[in-house]
Amino acid sequence: MNIHPVGIFDSGVGGLSVLSEIAKQLPQEEYYYVADQAHVPYGSRSIHDVREFSEEITRFLLSKEVKLVVIACNTASAAALNYLRDKFPQIPFVGMEPAVKPAAEGTISGVVGVLATPATFQGELYTSVLERFANGVMVLQDTCPGLVSQIEKGEIHSSETRTILENALHPMIQKGIDRVVLGCTHYPFIIPLIQEIVGPQIEVIDPSPAIARQVLRVLERNNLLNLAGESGSVNFFSTGNGSLLKTFLNQLMDINTNAQQLIWKDGELTEGY
Ligand code: DGL
Repeated sequence: MNIHPVGIFDSGVGGLSVLSEIAKQLPQEEYYYVADQAHVPYGSRSIHDVREFSEEITRFLLSKEVKLVVIACNTASAAALNYLRDKFPQIPFVGMEPAVKPAAEGTISGVVGVLATPATFQGELYTSVLERFANGVMVLQDTCPGLVSQIEKGEIHSSETRTILENALHPMIQKGIDRVVLGCTHYPFIIPLIQEIVGPQIEVIDPSPAIARQVLRVLERNNLLNLAGESGSVNFFSTGNGSLLKTFLNQLMDINTNAQQLIWKDGELTEGY
């Protein structure tokens, strides 16, 4: 089992921010990455639909004999993490939740901002995160409409992307935030732009390194670490426009590879040729 790959998925390119942290900490592992670009963005879809997509992607990853699944998507974690754990008890899952905890612990002003999708904010996971960690701290939220699609297109510096961010962040800055939580895995790609808008005094919190440490812990705990000592590889799959994923990988992550095609047919995923 130890030499089996790790499965990772997201609605699109967002999970690549998590994958790159995991691969940095665990370079010897092999990875299967699925970008469900036929359905991106997930954030405005129903919990039911996101759960169905997540279940089917998990089945695909299991067909590749993955030993662990990382739901590198806050929206899919909100919709499906508990559901998938119940459905596939034979495999460990690592999911995402907005990093309100470190923000609430570190804030001095007592006001923090969270950027995430509507579905993430509506999910029970987020409500429970607030109940557990936000005591006494004012948490401001924004769904940044259109931002995920901008990042999917690779528009990480454009004026449209900046406007969406300014609309979200300026009111938060006025209310005194000193921490901003990236509650969507697409957003680490625009940290430089976010930091430019909020200035150096406001800390931007990206949970990806913590998620990578969690993956390491779960693999260790289950005796699943690949101890081979060689460098693993990543197999990329897209259910949508593979050339978009290839361009993103190439231009923004300096990875030169083709994404393999996955096709949704009657609610099931098959490999395309
Ligand atoms: N990257 C995702 C997240 O972390 C999904 C964004 C979307 O597809 O709307 O929430």
